Amino acid sequence: MNWTIDSWRDKEIKQQPIYRDQKLLKEVENKLSIFPPLVFAGEVRDLESKLAEVAKGNAFLLQGGDCAESFAEFNANSIKNTFKVILQMAIVLMYSSSKPIVKVGRIAGQFAKPRSSDTETLNGVTLPSYRGDIVNGIEFNQESRIPDPNRLLQAYNQSTSTQNLLRAFARGGFADLNDIHQWNVGFLQNSKLEARYKEISDRISDSLKFMKACGIGSYSSKMIKETSFFTSHEALLLGYEQALTRKDSISGDYYDCSSHMLWIGDRTRDINEAHVEFLRGVKNPIGIKIGPSIKEDDILKLTETLNPENNFGRVTLIARMGADKICDKLPSIIEVIKKNGINVVWSCDPMHANVKKTSNNYKTRYIEDILSEIRDFFKIHNSLNTYAGGIHLEMTGSDVTECVGGSKFPVKEENLSDRYRTHCDPRLNADQALEIAFTISDIFKKYKI
Ligand code: PEP
Ligand code: CO
Repeated sequence: MNWTIDSWRDKEIKQQPIYRDQKLLKEVENKLSIFPPLVFAGEVRDLESKLAEVAKGNAFLLQGGDCAESFAEFNANSIKNTFKVILQMAIVLMYSSSKPIVKVGRIAGQFAKPRSSDTETLNGVTLPSYRGDIVNGIEFNQESRIPDPNRLLQAYNQSTSTQNLLRAFARGGFADLNDIHQWNVGFLQNSKLEARYKEISDRISDSLKFMKACGIGSYSSKMIKETSFFTSHEALLLGYEQALTRKDSISGDYYDCSSHMLWIGDRTRDINEAHVEFLRGVKNPIGIKIGPSIKEDDILKLTETLNPENNFGRVTLIARMGADKICDKLPSIIEVIKKNGINVVWSCDPMHANVKKTSNNYKTRYIEDILSEIRDFFKIHNSLNTYAGGIHLEMTGSDVTECVGGSKFPVKEENLSDRYRTHCDPRLNADQALEIAFTISDIFKKYKI
C-alpha cells in the first residue's frame, strides 16, 4: 500500500509547530524512538475487538478526559478523580443498557492542540498561539511561546507515569465492583445525583452478595475485581507519533504505541494530507472527528482509505456538529454510511461545536446545548434505525467551573472565574459529567437501547 512510517513527511501538513532547533528536534525524536512503548499491540487489538462489538450494537463507548493535559496539573489526585468519575459514569450506563461499556480516556498523551489561529493577540501584543504543553508554554510571553523539543520528552514521561497509575487502578483492586460506593468524588456527596448513584450501587452490591453466596466473588472472578481502561489522544504531532510507532513482532503490523486509540481532528482530516497518510498505516483503532463542513464524498474517501477492509472496530466517527446544526447535517452523513454498508462506531462529541464566549469573556459551554446535541444524536439514530454507539466528552474529576449549568450545583456565568483551570477548552466537572451519564441512561430507556 506504499506506506512507510515516514511517508506522511512528503505530504502537506497542518497544525505543526515550527521548531527553530531542528537538530535538537531530531535528537529528541531519535531518543523517543528507542524508548519503551506506552502500550502493547495486544492491548490495542483487544480494544479493537471491543469497539467491533460497539459497531455491531452490543456495547457502548465512553470516551472522556481533559481537552489538554498539562504539566502543571499533573498529580495522582486528578488522575484518580477522573478515573473514578469515568467508572461511575460507566456503571450508570451499564446498569441502564445491560451492555458492556468500553472505557477510553482522553489521557496519558492528550497534549497537542490544533488552533484556529497561528497567533494570539492580547492588549495589542501578538505572539504565537499556545499549542499544548508538549509544544510550548501557556504563559503569554515571547520566550514561553517558542516551541521546545524537550517538551516532547516531558510529555512522554508524564504519559508513561499516568498510564502506569491507570493500569494500577484498573487491575490492582481499585476498580473492584465491591467498592462501588467508594468511587464518589468528595464534592458530589449529598447531591441528587449522588442519591441516584447510590440507588444503583446498592442494587449492584445486593447482586454481588447473592453471587458471592453462589461462589462467584472478586477472589474468583477477574470480571468483578478488575476493569479495562484504554487511553487515547489526538494524533496531531506526527513527529512524536512516528517516534513511538513500533512494528509488532507477532503480526508484523505497525502500531502507534503512544496510545491505544488515536483520532484525527476536524481540522486535519484532509484526505490528501499527512495526518490521514500516517494513520492509514498503523493498526490502532482510529477516531475521525466530523464537523458540519464534512461532505458525503469526504466521508466515503476517509473510511475507504483508513479502513479498506471495512473491519468492525477500526473506525469511530465522532460527530461534533453543534446543537444548532446536528439535525440539519448529521442525517445525510449517516445515510451515506448506511447505504454503502460501511462499518463504523457512531460516537457523539457534544462539546466541540458548542463553544461560546460569555459577556465576561470566558470561553465556555452551556450544559443545555450539550444535552440538546446528545438528545438529537440519539433521536436521529433512532429514526434512521442505526446504532448510536458512543459519547466523547471533555471532562475532569476535579471541581472546576468551566461549563455553565448543571442541575444540582449549577455553575453560573459569574462563577466561571472561581475555578477556571483548563489549558484549552472548558471541561465538565464531575457533577456535570455524571448528570450527562444519567441523561444518556434515560435516553437508553426511552429508545430501549
Ligand atoms: C479536541 O477533541 O480537543 C478537538 C480539538 O476536537 P475537534 O478536532 O473536533 O475540534
Ligand atoms: Co477540546
